Amino acid sequence: MSDKISRRDFIKKSAIGIAISGSVLSSLNLEEFTKSVAGKAVRISGDDLLVKLSENPSLSKPGGSVRVNDEIMLIRKSEAEFIAVKTICTHKGCDVELEGSKFVCPCHGSEYTIEGKVTEGPAKKDLTTYPVEFDSEKGTVTIKLKDN
Ligand code: FES
Repeated sequence: MSDKISRRDFIKKSAIGIAISGSVLSSLNLEEFTKSVAGKAVRISGDDLLVKLSENPSLSKPGGSVRVNDEIMLIRKSEAEFIAVKTICTHKGCDVELEGSKFVCPCHGSEYTIEGKVTEGPAKKDLTTYPVEFDSEKGTVTIKLKDN
């Protein structure tokens, strides 16, 4: 018997593997999937992102922050004030980094306040920010993506 696999057998086996993977993925709870993708306890709620403070210890104190996805960082500015900032530089789209109390772009040196206001060029536009709602009783922060 030959160890070689025919092209037809390979295609059949690949199709079965894809079908099994698809059914496993579709059976996952979307919230759990989001949680594992983000690596943080963040849930999608309609057009919003819901962040539970109890599941994100870095937000327990003012000055703490968490990346809720590849593009958005949530920062606790004070006990009751949060800021959601898109961390994409408005100059040429590099990912800005939070350095102390400002965002700095590693590509060409633009700087922004923690609220996303540009303070140093070459960027001319502020970072995108999103409205947030803090529910102190539930301990949740809702980031309103659609309102932006
Ligand atoms: Fe950020 Fe140029 S891409 S300063």
